[in-house]
Amino acid sequence: MRAIHTVVDGRPAGGSQDPLTAGDGTTPRSLEGGSTVHASSPTVVVIEGIDGAGKSSQCGRVAERLTDRGLRVVTCAPDRPLRRVYKSLIDDADGFPDARTSVLLGLADYAYATQDVPPADVVLLDRYAYSSCADALALGMRPDQVLPLLRLFDAPDLTLFVDVSPREALARKGGACSLAEAGGPEVLRGAGSLPDAFVTYQNAVRDGFLRLFASHTGRHGFHVVDGERSLDDVTDALCDVVLRACGAGLPEAVDA
Ligand SMILES: Nc1ncnc2c1ncn2[C@@H]1O[C@H](COP(=O)(O)OP(=O)(O)O)[C@@H](O)[C@H]1O
Ligand SMILES: [Mg+2]
Repeated sequence: MRAIHTVVDGRPAGGSQDPLTAGDGTTPRSLEGGSTVHASSPTVVVIEGIDGAGKSSQCGRVAERLTDRGLRVVTCAPDRPLRRVYKSLIDDADGFPDARTSVLLGLADYAYATQDVPPADVVLLDRYAYSSCADALALGMRPDQVLPLLRLFDAPDLTLFVDVSPREALARKGGACSLAEAGGPEVLRGAGSLPDAFVTYQNAVRDGFLRLFASHTGRHGFHVVDGERSLDDVTDALCDVVLRACGAGLPEAVDA
């Protein structure tokens, strides 16, 4: 994945602004079972899914599990400067950004967040450019407008889609969602209530993700992982695919 540059001689200036956060290991350690990882470049793994699918929960759990296995893991900090700008806009119903503004801001954030990466075995990203592009498709932008934007980003080595139905995701969120998660004011007007708008919109987002993955994935492809299982079962399934991608050759790019 060329758009993510590994920084060999330490982090560029930026201190707490650094959008990527190194795991606790700085040198390769032994994997369980005696093997040692000597990755020349990181395996870039993206976890995607609709709102409430469990991406953030799983990113933390997967990062911990991989670190325990001796892999140096870098994750993406959730608090990022361009993300803060985007959030300030979507929190304001009157100034809610249209699809074009949203996709450009979202993509700028992902570009900035991944422009430099410290040495690692695995770079684990909670959302990536797919998220912004799936939103854009769900909001009515055409594939011929969105796909060229996605192609500004090299595909991650491995894409994991945590698949949960919008109704299950909403239930996990306690039945509450934000205006942005429901697609904004127009979708809300059409659906009549925030929960109904959430289900309508997130179904369209899910379709958008699958369409994007079908046309833009890296060497290990994309894997749809059933997210409607226990936290532990989903973590097991995700780690299984990542570990095979990192160490034991190519996993089959099929549903897990
Ligand atoms: N497998 C699961 N089973 C039950 N609840 C889950 C599961 N995964 C996540 N959750 C819960 O669902 C909610 C949304 O999870 P989160 O990780 O924030 O989703 P996302 O980052 O995809 O929006 C949280 O309350 C979380 O604890
Ligand atoms: Mg999240």
